[in-house]
Amino acid sequence: MKFFVDTADVDAIRELHELGMVDGVTTNPSLIAKSGRDILEVTKEICELVPGPVSAEVVALEADAMIEEGRKLAKIAPNIAVKVPLTWDGLKACKVLSEEGNMVNVTLCFSANQALLAAKAGATFISPFIGRLDDLNLDGLQLIADIRAIYDNFGYETQVLAASIRTANHMSECAKIGADVCTAPPAVIKAMANHVLTDKGLAAFVADAEKAGIKIV
Ligand code: E4P
Repeated sequence: MKFFVDTADVDAIRELHELGMVDGVTTNPSLIAKSGRDILEVTKEICELVPGPVSAEVVALEADAMIEEGRKLAKIAPNIAVKVPLTWDGLKACKVLSEEGNMVNVTLCFSANQALLAAKAGATFISPFIGRLDDLNLDGLQLIADIRAIYDNFGYETQVLAASIRTANHMSECAKIGADVCTAPPAVIKAMANHVLTDKGLAAFVADAEKAGIKIV
């Protein structure tokens, strides 16, 4: 499973990238706003750092305007994936931009039917939002499983990009289901390393090593 980092924080991306944990990056207007930086400038910097797909989202709502914005975003670097919302206009923009040879990430997906439409419109990635469904007491992981099954039934090449990841558990569950990609905030990726028994075991090893005077270098 590929790991994308869901942030526009260049330092956080760099730290994870140095460890080989970054196969791509996703941003959205809220994350760009949080960075406090110009969208074109920060996206270019991310594209230079990470060779994998970097999603940059349009802000227009109407298809022609989304296409114009998408073309401009795509010019930033060859590894840009233009992100469009899962609306009827977004699907129109997806079709045009993907036929022009751009990677397109269709975002804000909350149903299997929406995911079917995105695949037919030529999306490179579909982004179902797990956490926002869980927030409403719905089953975000079940949506990932449903889309995986539907895409496999018909051989759609659109990659399932599980988004709105809130916990380390979401990551392993998505891997079991067979999501192609998970995009998660840096803190969630780091939290995957934590286990209470690791901490407990390490504390015991450290104490025993001190007692026995074990020295290696
Ligand atoms: C995905 O591309 C989105 O940027 C992101 O995963 C949304 O996550 P949130 O629901 O935590 O805002």
